[in-house]
Amino acid sequence: MKKTLFLASALALTLSASAQTELRTSSKDSYVIPAEIYGQFAEHLGRCIYNGIWVGKDSKIPNQDGYRTDVFNALKDLQIPVLRWPGGCFADTYHWRDGVGPTKDRPAIKNVFWGGTMEDNSFGTDEFFTLCEKLGCKTYLSVNVGSGTVKDMNDWLEYITGTQDCPNVNYRKQNGREKPYKIDYIGIGNESWGCGGNMRPEFYADLYRQYSGYAHLYSNNTYPKRVASGSNDFDYNWTETLMKRAGNNMEHISLHYYVLPIRDWNGSKGPDRGFAEDQYFGVIRDGYKMDELVKGHIDIIAKYNKNVKLDVDEWGIWTDQEQGSIPGHLYQQNTLRDAILASTTFDIFHKYADRLGMCNIAQVVNVLQAMVLTKDDKMVLTPTYHVFKMYAVHQNAEYIPMDFKSPKYTFNGESINALSSTLSKKDGVYHLTLTNVDPKNKQTVTLNLSEIKATAMNKAEIITSAKFNDYNSFENPETIKIKPFNGASVKKGVLTVELPPMSIVTVEMK
Ligand code: AHR
Repeated sequence: MKKTLFLASALALTLSASAQTELRTSSKDSYVIPAEIYGQFAEHLGRCIYNGIWVGKDSKIPNQDGYRTDVFNALKDLQIPVLRWPGGCFADTYHWRDGVGPTKDRPAIKNVFWGGTMEDNSFGTDEFFTLCEKLGCKTYLSVNVGSGTVKDMNDWLEYITGTQDCPNVNYRKQNGREKPYKIDYIGIGNESWGCGGNMRPEFYADLYRQYSGYAHLYSNNTYPKRVASGSNDFDYNWTETLMKRAGNNMEHISLHYYVLPIRDWNGSKGPDRGFAEDQYFGVIRDGYKMDELVKGHIDIIAKYNKNVKLDVDEWGIWTDQEQGSIPGHLYQQNTLRDAILASTTFDIFHKYADRLGMCNIAQVVNVLQAMVLTKDDKMVLTPTYHVFKMYAVHQNAEYIPMDFKSPKYTFNGESINALSSTLSKKDGVYHLTLTNVDPKNKQTVTLNLSEIKATAMNKAEIITSAKFNDYNSFENPETIKIKPFNGASVKKGVLTVELPPMSIVTVEMK
C-alpha cells in the first residue's frame, strides 16, 4: 500500500552523520515493509534439515516429535514470516513420494548436489508443512522442473491441498493429516539456467508457461503466488526474456545474489574467519551492489508487468567451508562482518520494499549465512541471527524514506558509504536502525525528533564487537549479541547517536 509523504506534514527528516554531513529531506514515497523480506530458506543440504531442524523422534538430542527443540525455539523467537523448501539445487532432484508415508518405508536417496550424502527421507512433505504451522510462517514450496514432470507436480499439489475423495488425498489422510495444508508460494524450478536444468531463458520461459498453468491449489482451484525461477545476479537478459515471454503468467520472479569474499566460483572463495581488512571491505562493498541489482531487475520487470514482484529468494555471504567440515555441506562460521552485510542488505531491501515480494537468506541452519549453528547437542545463535531479531521491528512497519549524505569508508583508495540506515513506524512507535561499517572511525548521527513528531527515546540497542572477524563459537556463544546501548541521547528534541566502529544500532522512539 503506497502513500505519498508530504514534506509539509513534517515527515521530512534531517539526518546527519557528522558535523560535515549535508542535511537533506526526502520526498520519496512511503509504504509498508512486507514481513516476507525477512524470509528463510531450508534446503536438504549438509546439516540444514538433518541434525539441524530435524533429529528424529528417537534422537538423544532433545526434540519435539523429531524437531530439534533448541533450534525450533530459536527460530520461533525470530518470527520467521516464510520458509522456502526443499531447495535450491536439491529441489530439481526431489521426488516427493520418497518423503511421505511410514518413515521405515521411505527409500534412502543420495543427495547428488551436496556431497553425495545419503538421506533417509524421514523429513518430507508432512514434516515441512507441520513445521511451518508450528512456526506460524508462510510456506514456499519449490517444485521439480529439472527432472520432474507436470504430473508429479500435480500429484504433489493434490496430496498437499486436496479435499476430494481420491488416491492422493486419501493417502495424505492415511498418513495422519485430514485437513489440507496451505501453500502460499510455489517456485517453478530453481536456477533453471544452472543446476535446475541448464536451460536457455527462451526454453525455460516456455516450460514455465506450461508448469505455471497447472500449478493450482486443489482446495479452491486458485493459484498460490507463482514464482518464476529468475536470474543469477547481473544476468539481466534472463529477466528480460522471461518477462517478455511469460510475464503475464506469474506473480513473482526471483533473483539470486551471493557475496563471495573472493569472487571465484571454482576456486577459493575466501575464509569464513581470520580474514584481513581487504576481505571485510570487499564483502561490504559487494553487498551494496544489491541496490543496483534490485533496481536493475525491477526496472525490467516493470516494463512488462508492474504487478510482478521480485523475490531475492537466495542471498547472503558464501565463503569457503569451515576447514575440516564435510565437503559439499557448505558449513561456514558467521562473523560480525556477516552481521553488517545483513543489516546493510536489509536497508537496501527496505528501500525497494514496495516492489519486493519476499527475500530468503541462504540458509536457516548450518549452511552458508546461517541463523543458527549446531554441533552435537550444542547450538549457537550467529551474529546474523541477532540482526534478524533486532530488525524484526521493521516487519509490516511503515517505511519512512530518508536522504542523507553518508560519510565514506575508504580502503586502499576505494570508498564506500560508511553509514546505512532505515527508519520505520508501527503502532505509533519509530525505529531507527543505523549501521556504521567503518572499522576504525565512529560516526555521529543526529535526528530532529520534531520532524517525525516523536518526543522521546524509549531505548537503544547495539550489536558490535572488537574485531570484524569475531564470531560466536560453541565455547564462547555470546561474544556477539544484542546489548543495551548508552550512546544515544535526546537533548532539546534532537536525537544524537554516537555509533562505534563496526556497529549496528537500533533506537526506539515515540
Ligand atoms: O544455497 C546453496 C545453493 O546455491 C542452492 O542450492 C542453489 O540454488 C544456489 O546455487
